[in-house]
Order: sequence, then structure tokens, then C-alpha cells
Amino acid sequence: MSEEKHINVGRGLPPAESISDLPDWKQAQPAWIESALQQALRRPSGGWYVVDSTRAIGSGPRSYRIAGEDYVVWRGSDGFLIAPDHCPHMGARLSDGFVRDACVVCPWHGLALGADGLGKWQPLPTFDDGVLLWVRPDSGADATPEPILPERPTRYFDAVMRLEARCDPRDVLANRLDPWHGAHFHPHSFGRLKVIEKDESTISVRVVYKISKRFGMEVDAVFHCPDPRTIVMTIVGGEGVGSVVETHATPIEAGRSAVIEATLAASDRPQFHWFMNALGRFIRPVIEKRARRLWVEDAEYAERRYELRNGGLRPPLEEL
Ligand code: FES
Ligand SMILES: [Fe+2]
Repeated sequence: MSEEKHINVGRGLPPAESISDLPDWKQAQPAWIESALQQALRRPSGGWYVVDSTRAIGSGPRSYRIAGEDYVVWRGSDGFLIAPDHCPHMGARLSDGFVRDACVVCPWHGLALGADGLGKWQPLPTFDDGVLLWVRPDSGADATPEPILPERPTRYFDAVMRLEARCDPRDVLANRLDPWHGAHFHPHSFGRLKVIEKDESTISVRVVYKISKRFGMEVDAVFHCPDPRTIVMTIVGGEGVGSVVETHATPIEAGRSAVIEATLAASDRPQFHWFMNALGRFIRPVIEKRARRLWVEDAEYAERRYELRNGGLRPPLEEL
């Protein structure tokens, strides 16, 4: 691939060498990706799953399928409530009903259900981290009172994108543990990308994030997996140090996952928060659209990886 030049509109960075001069296809080692992935899969989750952006849940009930079960989600008087999407009376879908006085009202015979539950029908533990809503469907021995949250900037502007892909959460993580595909597979977004550090489970890159054909922002970013269904990119150099992109993968059912990606943008520039407060409602959809565009492509990657894993097809790695 020809090396395009972009005018850096962000902060200058000290020179950094790539850890290898080999072409990306040689640097991208499936064995490293798999080993970093296995380490992530061994980390505890506390039994928590990301449901969606809290902003996505409005005044009515919404239905979500998580790990093969259907849930109804709505806003109660003390925060979000999540419970089986199955009326305890005769089984109607509660998400087809409506919310009245902080209760979800069944569309079939009008039973109103709230935080106290009814018999075996009970709301599940939830956690609102200020950007995302989490649920803990099981209360097994490994369950923790709160999800394992990645470190976030103290002050940020957030945007969240959600899409579904025909793969498992591990395929979503594996995609992001392969930064070497970035400039090749997303040439509209990444101008140049080199891996500058790598250990057993984290990987650091220097990348030009394209703003337009001529302008870009060069940043250093580190990827790590804090739990078995999350990969976080943290900006550690250049513009927006401390900003994070959290990619959470929630299983819908076997072979289907939701990718919920939260961008938490931070900056030490004094105008940043003023600017975001003033124009945030216009900027948020732009960030979400860019994240979605990347994930439409990365979902193809993750889905292909899922197919390869399940079809027993493997590239002849040892021979490369
Ligand atoms: S099925 Fe829900 S009230 Fe009857
Ligand atoms: Fe990608």
C-alpha cells in the first residue's frame, strides 16, 4: 500500500519506531492474537453484560435478547429495570406493552409490573455507569455487585453505537486485537498505522486518524481487554490523551452478538468542553456514524472469522 501523507492537525508526537519493518501481513500473527484473546477470555466478568446506551432507552419498554433470553427494559422510578420479557400471567411480550407509573403494563390483560416483581417474575440486577446500561442475569458464585469497569477520563463527551453481527463476542475482540488490518481494511479512516509496542496482552499503535483526504490526527493508542467481552482503546499520545473507545460485545445467542461501542472523548484544551456542550447534539451523531461505518466493516471481519472457526477452515499459518 502506498504511504499517503496527511497534514497532522493534532499535536506533534516524538518519533516512534515500528517494532518491525515486515509488511503488515507478516506482522499480524494469528498466534499472538489468539493468545491475547485467550488471556482476555480467562478474565472475570462478574456475570455482567452491556445492554445498550442508557440514552437509547426512552419512555417506553424495549426488548433485548441477551445470551439466549429475552428481556424487557424500561425506566423505573429509581433507574432502569430489566426483567424477563414474558408476562407471568399468560406469557405476553411485555415489551409490546407500555410504561405507566414506573411499571411496565402488559398489553394482553393490563397487569402492571414494577420493581417489586411478582412471584418468580423478578427484575434483575442492573448497573448504570453513566453511559451504558449493564445487566447481571445470573447470581452465580462469580457474580460481582458491579461490573468490572474500564478506567475512564474524569470528564468526557460520549457517543455510543450499537450494531449486531453474526459471530460470537470473541470474534469481536479478535478483530480489535488485530490492529494490522486497520489501514488496509479501513483506508477511509486510517492513513498510516504502525505497531510500536506489544506485550502478551496489550498492543500499542501510532496511527493517523483521517479527518479528510489531506488532514489527519496522529495519535498513540493502546488496546487492552479488561474483561472477556470488552476491548478498550485508550489514547496515550497526541490529541485527546485519556480518551477511550470501549467496545463491548454482548452475546445475543450462539453465533450472534451485539457490538456496543462507547467513545468517551476527552481533551485538556480549555475550549473542548464548552464546544462539546454547545454543539454536542450535532457532533454526537457524526461520531456515532463514523464508529458505525468502521463496525459495519469490522463486523464482516468478525463474521468471517466466526465462519472460519466453525467451518474448521484455517489459513495455513505455519507455512507463511
Ligand atoms: S398475559 Fe399479561 S396480563 Fe395476561
Ligand atoms: Fe477494523
